[in-house]
Amino acid sequence: RHQWQGVIEEYRPLLDIPEGVPAVTLGEGGTPLVRSGWLSGLTGAEVWLKVEGDNPTGSFKDRGMTTAISVAKHEGAQAVVCASTGNTSASMAAYAAKAGLKPLVLVPEGKIAAGKMAQAIMHGGQVIMVRGNFDDCLDLSRGLAERYPVALVNSVNPVRLEGQKTASFEVVDRLGDAPDFHLLPVGNAGNISAYWLGYRQYADLGRATKKPVMRAFQAEGAAPLVTGEPFPHPETKATAIRIGNPASWHLAVAAAEESGGRFAALSDEAILAAQRLLASRDGVFVEPASAVGVAGMLAELEAGESYAGATVVVTVTGHGLKDTVTALEAFGEIVDTVVDADVEAAAGAAGLA
Ligand code: F0G
Repeated sequence: RHQWQGVIEEYRPLLDIPEGVPAVTLGEGGTPLVRSGWLSGLTGAEVWLKVEGDNPTGSFKDRGMTTAISVAKHEGAQAVVCASTGNTSASMAAYAAKAGLKPLVLVPEGKIAAGKMAQAIMHGGQVIMVRGNFDDCLDLSRGLAERYPVALVNSVNPVRLEGQKTASFEVVDRLGDAPDFHLLPVGNAGNISAYWLGYRQYADLGRATKKPVMRAFQAEGAAPLVTGEPFPHPETKATAIRIGNPASWHLAVAAAEESGGRFAALSDEAILAAQRLLASRDGVFVEPASAVGVAGMLAELEAGESYAGATVVVTVTGHGLKDTVTALEAFGEIVDTVVDADVEAAAGAAGLA
């Protein structure tokens, strides 16, 4: 059986990175494409979930981080920096640790899920909490990389997209062709740009006969690509995508336009409801931001949109264990119910008696 080598070794000839760069890898990529029985039944489509929480640090960021850190190390960097809503920093810190680089992380104060903070710190990241939002942190990390000897590994670094586009390759390799539609959440807009890059490349190479329609979703409180204006004060429970001025704005718009796709926004309630449904119907536990593609699909169905007969891939970007606090908020009654260690009491509480 083939032992998965990580995305650089699996796809090296297709990646625009310096020749012969040694791969700093944790075995990222090769994530499951899981058929959603629930969504397929609801839509009359074949709906597949690309489960990116299965990556080594629990999000899709690992695909771009293996390339970014490998190249930074190869070019002699000693330290790396990123702004993050949590997942990029967790991933960067892990890959930097593996490469022996010093990770410097800038995050918005109080807006990072605990699991992600724990990851960044455990991997040896120097975590700086900033009075401001992600967009402020990104400005800061760009400023630091310009003036100090630290390499910037946010997705404004094109090497990140080279790694992240491998998710499209895997989808096509698995399905035998590109899907008709690809749905995903958008924050800083690196991921949609990378997927589109990958789908275009596979179509150009003749490995796919078509490219999917890209439909991308944001939270209502942080929806600059929907309104066309930056959000100075982005706000959403889906903290991973609490971003008001995405760095890859133009690439994301190009992906939507060239593919015949579009952007739409969802309320936090719709996002959290989709997260719970995905966990309870399909057995796939994702963090709130990761459920935004599914929330988008449900909202479209409600509005009369049809996916019948199509093949649809929905990327679920990160693992639910990243943010258990938000997950449990809706279930206070369950968490707070305690019974004596007694069969009758347990049966009563379980509604069996
Ligand atoms: N889903 C999750 C779980 C994310 O962490 C992010 C981005 C996105 C979706 C959106 O992807 O930015 O490429 O459009 N997280 C970044 C971070 C911003 O710092 O971890 P995008």
